Amino acid sequence: MSPSPSNAATSLTNRPTLGISSLIHGADYNPEQWSDHPEILAADLSLIPQAGLNCVSLGIFSWSALEPEEGRFSFRWLDTLMDNLHARGTRVIMATPSAGRPVWLSRRYEEVRCVGRDGKRSGIGGRLNLCPSSPVWRDKVSIINRQLATRYAYHPAVVLWHVSNELSNECFCNLCFVGFRRWLQSAYSTIDYLNKAWWNSFWSHSFTSFEDIVELDGSITGMNLDWKRFQSDVYVDYVRSEMAPLRLANPNIPITTNFVPSCRVPEQRRMVAELDVVSWDAYPGWHTGDDLACAANNAFFADLYRVMAHKKPLLQMETTPSQVNWGTDSPLKRPGVHRLTALQAIAHGADGVSYFQWRAGRGGCEQFHGAVIDHTNTADTRVVGEVTEVGRDFKALGKVIGSPVVSSIGLVFEWDSLWAVEAASLVGNRRKDYEPTCVAHHRALWQQSHPIDVICCDDDLSAYRLIIAPMLYILDESRATRLRAWVAGGGTLVLSYFSGVVNEHGLAHLGGSPGPLRDVAGLWVEEIDALPGTRPPRILGQPNAVMDVGNLGTAIDYAAIVRLTGAESVASYVDEFYAGTPALTCHRFGRGECWFMAARMGHGALVTFYQALTARVGVSPVRADLPVGVTATRRGIGAEATTFLMNWTPQPLHGLAPYGCSYEAG
Ligand code: GAL
Repeated sequence: MSPSPSNAATSLTNRPTLGISSLIHGADYNPEQWSDHPEILAADLSLIPQAGLNCVSLGIFSWSALEPEEGRFSFRWLDTLMDNLHARGTRVIMATPSAGRPVWLSRRYEEVRCVGRDGKRSGIGGRLNLCPSSPVWRDKVSIINRQLATRYAYHPAVVLWHVSNELSNECFCNLCFVGFRRWLQSAYSTIDYLNKAWWNSFWSHSFTSFEDIVELDGSITGMNLDWKRFQSDVYVDYVRSEMAPLRLANPNIPITTNFVPSCRVPEQRRMVAELDVVSWDAYPGWHTGDDLACAANNAFFADLYRVMAHKKPLLQMETTPSQVNWGTDSPLKRPGVHRLTALQAIAHGADGVSYFQWRAGRGGCEQFHGAVIDHTNTADTRVVGEVTEVGRDFKALGKVIGSPVVSSIGLVFEWDSLWAVEAASLVGNRRKDYEPTCVAHHRALWQQSHPIDVICCDDDLSAYRLIIAPMLYILDESRATRLRAWVAGGGTLVLSYFSGVVNEHGLAHLGGSPGPLRDVAGLWVEEIDALPGTRPPRILGQPNAVMDVGNLGTAIDYAAIVRLTGAESVASYVDEFYAGTPALTCHRFGRGECWFMAARMGHGALVTFYQALTARVGVSPVRADLPVGVTATRRGIGAEATTFLMNWTPQPLHGLAPYGCSYEAG
């Protein structure tokens, strides 16, 4: 029940590629929305390459066009289109259509429609509302996938299969609960064992048999954790079933599914083993706040998916070429930002970028979503200009394909801790913020141009000099053993408040956090103050400490009070009844060190801390001395490497245009 192993740490070798000599520059294309407009479809054939695109993703929402009635298929329109695209050199990423289903299917087979947490079955329409357990659903999807595979598995335009779209909905139907009970039985064998693991004597909630488990009980943390694990496993199995006909038809066409960031279910790491290519969708909220924070957030996910992909190609499957239409505010991307975002994806490891969408439809709730070609129906637009420029950049950057990003810093982000923190009623529920905290630590390093791998404890840790595990709330024996051995062998580990609080079932460790790593941290947490924000305690570096950190500002949200059992204080609280107690500590363990950040700290403090710590462990950034707002990212090794310099500000900076990006060998 620990997270399944995903990938090893940064590899020094190149990754396999899609076998295409250029970076993918593509877009979701929905020709079925234009079947009454042959002139539009004809124009698209030449506009797509003119705009610098070399690929389109087809079929994502085409099911009712492909199978208008159950068992009656209509492929001729797609055959013609595929041949026409191929004739012009445009490649095709062929999607299975399961993200949106035909009305006949929803109406005839109720069980295919997912049930929400409130017990209500989803309606006829919408999308991403499937039941991954439903045998009928799997059967209907297999039938259409088999048809697609039979028809296109050897079509010369097809470079990749794209299974479904952003799989991420939970289903609480009876079929899923039958599966859950089976899953629990195989994980726990006896109901007594399960009752103990979940602490079910609390509120008298012990089950007498597995058959008692018919709904989720929000008061049982372990149950909620296992539910997420179960749903993740169901999705792995579901994706396998979607892929089977595709693999059977032609095992040489690689398969991906596009991941959506901040996804709770499924745990995407579990799915990677099934895939040949990892891909993800990025919709950064430019100009709605701090652009640097927005870029950092995007960099975090780029680093997460790159590491998940490890030895597989990585693509950014979706991003908008202009605006989204679902934000509270959706400002236009300022000139340069589109190119900057696309190059950021490449710099962080992607072998291509694709857009949602090529052409804006005239109706439907995404009619005003940004597209390469919008309702002006012309290529003479600023957006097409910027997209075309990206196409030129991608041609120039062909040599980065398959090349790695080399990092000696690992930042741990785990779905288990995300689920557990969110499920728990903590002291201070206002801002639990597991994911934003990981992003904040990552940002402090990214902003200083350090390459960072976003990893899990099961990854190969041997390549890292520094591992940061903020709020690693679930720390079981297996994770603790790996981290302990790694520190003992010379690694530098950073833990924080809410690291090592519970085991894999959500049961609190006795003896205080960080639980099984108390010996490594050289301390235990006695209490944790949840700060209302009015009188946050200040934090100051200790004179003559092992590392000089100076003024670390004030604690934010949480301040843990620790008792040292070997660690030394590097900074301490200045205020409150715990003034003088440690807020930041360092403990020598074996040949390595473990740092403990007892309080949540602001961006400035994190920057100061990591600047000092990276110097201490001897990790250098790609470029030092860049002004705040400019970052450097390197892709590739030695003479083959390419360094990208990116200006995330609206001012010219460091020789770069506003929101400009340059790249050079080395
Ligand atoms: C994505 C989705 C696309 C499109 C896009 C709009 O999440 O996969 O189909 O809806 O959002 O931003």
